[in-house]
Formats: sequence, structure tokens, C-alpha cells
Amino acid sequence: MIGAIELEKIRALIYKETGMLFEEKKDYYLINRLQQRMSELGIISFNEYYKTLIFEDRSKELQSFIESITINETYFFRDFPQLQGFAEKVLPAYLEQKRKKFNSVLKVWSAACSTGEEAYTLSIILQEMIEDYAHWSVSVEATDIDRNVIGHAEKGIYSERSMKDTPEAYRKKYFVPMGEEWQVSKLKKHPIDFKTLNFTDKEAMKKMRNFDVIFCRNVLIYFDDQSRKSVVNLLYDSLIPGGHLFLGHSENIGRITAAFELQTLGGFICYRRPL
Ligand SMILES: C[S@@+](CC[C@H](N)C(=O)[O-])C[C@H]1O[C@@H](n2cnc3c(N)ncnc32)[C@H](O)[C@@H]1O
Repeated sequence: MIGAIELEKIRALIYKETGMLFEEKKDYYLINRLQQRMSELGIISFNEYYKTLIFEDRSKELQSFIESITINETYFFRDFPQLQGFAEKVLPAYLEQKRKKFNSVLKVWSAACSTGEEAYTLSIILQEMIEDYAHWSVSVEATDIDRNVIGHAEKGIYSERSMKDTPEAYRKKYFVPMGEEWQVSKLKKHPIDFKTLNFTDKEAMKKMRNFDVIFCRNVLIYFDDQSRKSVVNLLYDSLIPGGHLFLGHSENIGRITAAFELQTLGGFICYRRPL
């Protein structure tokens, strides 16, 4: 029986381990996922399953349970106007500043990348927009808490649904059809470094350093203000001074931190770590 007390314990565990806050209106979703995992393990009692989560072979089942509840919705060129602002306004000015300092290193991070569409999109944008690309040392790293989506991202094969906002010219240039699906092709020369990373893992987060640009979109909506603040502070530390942070359009952090300079670009805000 999974009742209010059991759900409260699960909600607290998810929050502690990931920062995601599942409100009571999502109870049906949690119950469904719990039942699914318990049935896969042949466990009937919630208490037994809960013990498995917190005591036994901890990393294994807890990780699988977390993967069963993550919401991985994403697609190429998601929020096109924001990407356009990045490509046509933020990036050229930023590269110009770097050129003046004879700095030709550009590090980009797609944080909470899900199945990788955002990371590949950024890689395409960088190749398209940086005229003297060969002179730059460009790297794109991409991370997510969920091992399954990272596996998918590494394969780089996508359904038409993921491709729906991809401009025709890029579809032809960077993808090859594979039956009903599409495989990312021309980016192989500049492979993206995909890996699992949980924002609540402070030690792992400390290793993410010196990024010029971080995209962390459509994940903080699942967090509360406290966990949002802690992630945003860590992302701040991951940026180099002058580096930029892009969030999802409903993820305004002006209320929870004053550490960034705000740049308004058309309909969206971009956050800059001060120099
Ligand atoms: C909706 S997707 C966003 C994908 C992409 N950034 C976009 O905007 O299209 C949210 C992702 O956040 C990941 N996520 C949730 N909690 C996380 C955490 N604590 N650490 C890292 N990733 C997390 C989920 O696994 C999921 O793939």
C-alpha cells in the first residue's frame, strides 16, 4: 500500500538526492513509477522497496528509480529565438572580447542535456557562427543525472519528433537519414563529451570549471527555490568571469540571486558572471 506517509518519504528522498520537488499533484506519477520499479524487482511491500532504496546496493536501485522519474522532454533548436539571440548577439561580441585578449579557447556546457539534442544544437551553432573555427579550441560538454539519456545522446540517433524545429539546411548538412530516424553526422570531428552528473554532487560539480557558456534549460522548473539557488551558485562557480548562463524562458532567477549581471535580449534574459 502506497499512502500519504510513504509518498512523503519518497518525495523527501528524491528532493535530497536530486533537488527535484514533486508536489502532491504529481502523486499519481510517483505511484506509477514506484509500482513499476517494485514489480520489476518482484517486491510487494513499499517498506521493503524503500529499504532497498536507502540501504541495499544503494547506488544501483536509487539511480534506477531516479531515472524512472526524470522528465526528459527535449528537441533540437528548442526555443529558437533564444538560440538566435545567443548565436547572433551574445556569441559574436563574446568572441571579439576573447580575440582581443588572444584567448582562443571556448568551453560550452549543456547542463541537464537529456538525450543530447541541446548539446548537438549548440555544437551546430558554434560551427556555423564561428568563421575562423579552425583557430579556436572549442569544446562542448554535456551532462545529465540519467544514464539512459546519456547513452541515447552518445548514439546520436533521433526520431522526427526531435527534429521538428531543425532548419532544413542544417538537417541536410549535419544529419543522415536512417530509416525513419536521423543520425547526427558531421559533428564527429568535434565529439561532444557526454557524461552523467547530478547537480547535488558538489564534488563532481567542482570539477566543472572555466566554462564560457552554460545552457541549463528546463530543469530548474522541477526544483524549489532552495535547490534552484544551490544549483545556480554552483553554475556561477563553473563559469569564467564574463561567461554567460542561459536558462529556460520560465526560469527567472533574479529573485533568488543578485550575483549575475542581467542582459535582456529580445524576449529573454541572459545571465553573465561579472568580470
Ligand atoms: C526537460 S529535460 C531538459 C533538457 C534540455 N536542457 C532542454 O531544455 O531541452 C530535464 C533534464 O534534467 C535532468 N535532471 C533532473 N534533475 C537533475 C539533477 N539533479 N542533476 C542533473 N540533471 C538533472 C533530467 O534527467 C532531464 O533529462
